[in-house]
Amino acid sequence: MPHSTTSNITIHPIQPPKGSTYDFGAELRGADLENLTDADAEIIKRALYEHQVILFKNQHALTPKAQYEVTRLFDPAATGYGHGKTLDAKRSILHPDLKTIPHQPQVQVIGNGAVAEFEGLKDITLKHPHHKTFHKEAISEEDDRENTRFYRWHIDAALYDLEPPKATSLLAVKVPKTQYQNLRYDDGTGDELKVPRGSTAFVSSYTMYDLLSEEDKEFARTTKVQYAPHPYIWMSPAKSRSDGLGLISEGLELSPCQLPPIDESKIKVLPMCWRNPLTNQLALQIHPSAVQKLILADGNVIDDLKQVREIVHRMQRPGIAPELVYPIDWEEGDFAIFHNRGVLHTVTGSFLPEEVRIFRQCNMAASEPVLGPEV
Ligand SMILES: [Fe+2]
Repeated sequence: MPHSTTSNITIHPIQPPKGSTYDFGAELRGADLENLTDADAEIIKRALYEHQVILFKNQHALTPKAQYEVTRLFDPAATGYGHGKTLDAKRSILHPDLKTIPHQPQVQVIGNGAVAEFEGLKDITLKHPHHKTFHKEAISEEDDRENTRFYRWHIDAALYDLEPPKATSLLAVKVPKTQYQNLRYDDGTGDELKVPRGSTAFVSSYTMYDLLSEEDKEFARTTKVQYAPHPYIWMSPAKSRSDGLGLISEGLELSPCQLPPIDESKIKVLPMCWRNPLTNQLALQIHPSAVQKLILADGNVIDDLKQVREIVHRMQRPGIAPELVYPIDWEEGDFAIFHNRGVLHTVTGSFLPEEVRIFRQCNMAASEPVLGPEV
């Protein structure tokens, strides 16, 4: 990396459209991502922790290697894929057919449709997740083209053994541009939101924390979240709420004897609030579908799954109100990096099998644990 103290990068905060009030996201202009200087790297790192989602336009030529290197800026000691090796890929709810780029295995290909050749992968078929495979109640067939849901609000993290990645990057390679869809919450509130079809939606977990009552803030700062072992296999038979923010409790989760062997030392107990390493702001950062127990300040444990989920949903739901959601309107060549420890994100939309969409994604399990609420 050239030791230059100058940078041409300028930062342009995203202006939310009328009616929206989210206060994160920025476009970074003037970066040569294949040849970053030290000063560029410093600006990009600060920008991520200040703006949570940073967007570089016109990165059509970005190589998988450069994508990996830029993503690694935030954690140079990080190594393998953020979700780890899947022990039981067939039963996990995460991309059962995740495609890895042969010459840059930290970068995966996601999207939709049949692709004859891409970055050394041949004859692959990609599938954009549809909410009907995960939500308890789906939008009717006839309304499905015009309407969509938040598929699954989440953090990119294995939540077993490995530490949550600091950043995830997404490059939009091929994007079918079509009409907007109406995103319905279908949770009895009447909430809805117009989103570009196939948008990735983000919310700030800092705002989610700030919206809590003082009592809930205290609870959030002092409570720990225990995640289920092998969470994506554990939750595989369960179904989601219609707002994509956590699961419905019907006793469908797998029991320990139905899971791969459990190493108790690998079970993740994480703070409910994660501190921003630059600003010290607190994020209410909980993976709503993977949570299993809450460990309270006095050591008591709430292990009634229904109750755990009700508490988490009550705390998180205000933070996904329509005006707080930043839905990226993807254009080909867009390269976004998001602060995986400061936002929640979700897929939206649906595509027909013949609609081809290609994205490259990169994240790595972190080399350091998340920062707790105490400075
Ligand atoms: Fe994700």
